[in-house]
Amino acid sequence: MAEDLIAPSILSADMAKLGEEVDNVLAAGADIIHFDVMDNHYVPNLTIGPLVCNALRKHGVTAILDVHLMVKPVDRIVPDFAAAGADYITFHPEASEHIDRTLQLIRDQGCKSGLVFNPATPLSHLDYVMDKVDMVLLMSVNPGFGGQSFISSALDKLRQARKMIDASGLDIRLEIDGGVKVDNIAEVKAAGCDTFVSGSGIFHQGNDSDPNRYDSIIRRMREEMAKVSR
Ligand code: DX5
Ligand code: ZN
Repeated sequence: MAEDLIAPSILSADMAKLGEEVDNVLAAGADIIHFDVMDNHYVPNLTIGPLVCNALRKHGVTAILDVHLMVKPVDRIVPDFAAAGADYITFHPEASEHIDRTLQLIRDQGCKSGLVFNPATPLSHLDYVMDKVDMVLLMSVNPGFGGQSFISSALDKLRQARKMIDASGLDIRLEIDGGVKVDNIAEVKAAGCDTFVSGSGIFHQGNDSDPNRYDSIIRRMREEMAKVSR
């Protein structure tokens, strides 16, 4: 199985010093950066776009950028994110009229593609497109905001998705997003997850004046994950 990746969501970072926040969380041992794009249409919030993605690249960020699109429509903005330096581009099936086409578009633009499943969205959307997907992202909150509580039915869904991915024999990451913290990351891993998004669970922990607070939270997450063998 793929190595575990910790993916801080910059939604909870201090946006006034975003480059520094990303540098610090990567220096503290984060593996990839989760980049939440909201449009005040598909979800009731508005965040950041390709301009900011590109700004992070120009700032010198070389880590994998995992762009989570919560926008509708999807296709128009995909080439812009590819040009801005996105590695993964994931989207919600409800937000695209032609899911297969959008998945292909993402790969044609040189990025890795992924589908995102809201808590009530069935995994059956994967049935005919599994070979066009590099990432399956399960939402463990309803999309739109950081700091919400983990919806526990996501654990069963993770187990189900893990079975589907293993049965496919394909190289597909299984990511969780929403309410992931030190105290539940082990059970999330045990359910089959290999890519762990955490926003408030990383950026809103500890004392702002402590320069090592991200090191300590990421180390504790890894200690918890080490308790689970797969
Ligand atoms: C929610 C976003 C998440 C969010 C998670 O719509 O997709 O990535 O930042 O935040 P936490 O980890 O605080 O639940
Ligand atoms: Zn997200």
